[in-house]
Amino acid sequence: MKNRLNGDIAEINAALEKYMGVPNEPQKTIYEAMRYSLFAGGKRLRPVLMLETAKMLGGDADVVMPFACAMEMIHTYSLIHDDLPAMDNDDYRRGRLTCHKKYGEAIAILAGDALLNRAFEITSSAGAGDPALLLRAVSMLAQSSGARGMIGGQVIDIESEMRPITLQELEYLQLLKTGAIIRSSCTVGALLSGGSEEDVAAVDEFAKNLGRAFQIRDDILDRIGSDEELGKPTGSDEAEGKTTFVSMLGIEKSEELVAEYSKKAAEALSRFGERADFLKWLADYLVSRRS
Ligand code: IPE
Ligand code: IPE
Ligand code: MG
Ligand code: MG
Ligand code: MG
Repeated sequence: MKNRLNGDIAEINAALEKYMGVPNEPQKTIYEAMRYSLFAGGKRLRPVLMLETAKMLGGDADVVMPFACAMEMIHTYSLIHDDLPAMDNDDYRRGRLTCHKKYGEAIAILAGDALLNRAFEITSSAGAGDPALLLRAVSMLAQSSGARGMIGGQVIDIESEMRPITLQELEYLQLLKTGAIIRSSCTVGALLSGGSEEDVAAVDEFAKNLGRAFQIRDDILDRIGSDEELGKPTGSDEAEGKTTFVSMLGIEKSEELVAEYSKKAAEALSRFGERADFLKWLADYLVSRRS
């Protein structure tokens, strides 16, 4: 299973490389800053989820790959902006200095913006696949990363530094901040592979629960992980006064929730039988991670 994961990551990195040349233009710095953050490592979780959801449903990797790459670009842009002094104010990401520490805030903001634009440039000019489905997939990408998705979650996350929030608000925040694009990674993969409505609903349920478990694990690692293993600073949530599952419920209860949500995630894939074995393994692997 680990070999298969590494194979997926290698394919994704090769495709990303193809979309991310450095043209010899006066604005070259922007290409370099985009690549700096995109190729700094990273688990490639979202594109792997998309590719593997497609494989589970017998889809065509060529159709899905531009969307998988776009998703990683959107995710990377969100991390660049998340680390800015105006947001989480972090100096390390993916084992190296954050984009703004290396290139300055202005270029970091622009690199994030440019990655977002590149994502929609790639997906809206994707050649292979049914045009009606491709258009729906582009729309899903946009919605899940916008004000009703990831950005909406980031807004409440930032506001939670200023005022106490309830457990319900925290669940909602994480559902958007982390859940939205993890969900669309899976549902876009299913949609582009000809999945039925029931298939799409099942992978959505899987991703929703995986997203919850994944973010709670992220909160736990922020408290008990090591900077070296994670490639980003620990203790950042506490320093910024954020409400997280750990600050609200403690480590032990948070671990229980991770186990509960990852079990629910696996159960949601029961209709796919053995074809879901890899995704189930991946969910388990991710929520027991130390990095
Ligand atoms: C970090 O995402 C932000 C969260 C939503 C927890 P990842 O943990 O997937 O970060 P990379 O892509 O591996 O760097
Ligand atoms: C960020 O969540 C999620 C994004 C949408 C970027 P965090 O702020 O918890 O992510 P890390 O811990 O900095 O990776
Ligand atoms: Mg944040
Ligand atoms: Mg952060
Ligand atoms: Mg975090």
